[in-house]
Amino acid sequence: MPTDTTADSSALIISRFDRALHDRSAFSCGFSPIDNFLKSSLSDHMKVGLVMAWIATTKDDPAVLGFYTLGALGVRPDFGPKTWQRAKVPDIPVIYLRAVAVRKDMQGKGLGTALVIDAMKRCIGIAGQMGAAAIVLDVLEDEHFERRAKFYAALGFKPLGDPDNPRRVFIPMADVLATLR
Ligand SMILES: CC(C)(COP(=O)(O)OP(=O)(O)OC[C@H]1O[C@@H](n2cnc3c(N)ncnc32)[C@H](O)[C@@H]1OP(=O)(O)O)[C@@H](O)C(=O)NCCC(=O)NCCS
Repeated sequence: MPTDTTADSSALIISRFDRALHDRSAFSCGFSPIDNFLKSSLSDHMKVGLVMAWIATTKDDPAVLGFYTLGALGVRPDFGPKTWQRAKVPDIPVIYLRAVAVRKDMQGKGLGTALVIDAMKRCIGIAGQMGAAAIVLDVLEDEHFERRAKFYAALGFKPLGDPDNPRRVFIPMADVLATLR
């Protein structure tokens, strides 16, 4: 999927959510809590500074094709790489990737992968400005869990190993660079 936005009107644009610009009305990814979050809660969550959302559209059409959000999170060092335990700090700062979603008719065409790659590039930039040891996300649990888990594993995410949250996966920032290479 092209991401060069200069001339081709069908080229993908990924830009920060703007309620005046982005048309969320027809968006449905097939998982209603995510659809509802986009339509009902996102603006408020952004106002309070809980998340920042990144929206995929094409150049000439404001309809939302897909999106993801990023936020800050602290995770216990008990799990994950040994270097986290050796640091002897109460929390490890990470970036929380939440609500990756693609409109149903666009799924299976590479947009989800393009969104995660875009998130990874953005996270590398953030990690150059403040401490952020990894990208963390919680894989949604329903009958498609295994398929989702495979999608993230293919991008380099691995289980964090927290028995209280077995759905949680992470990718250390150094491994993000390897995925992007
Ligand atoms: C998961 C999702 C973001 C992937 O986006 P996509 O554009 O379809 O993904 P890509 O085309 O880049 O990659 C295809 C892979 O995505 C995964 N995928 C595709 N459709 C999926 C679906 N409905 N549910 C779960 N995973 C799906 C599969 O791993 C697929 O590979 P496969 O066809 O070999 O099984 C998208 O399917 C979606 O929005 N699903 C509903 C919401 C959701 O589950 N979000 C994840 C939150 S953790």
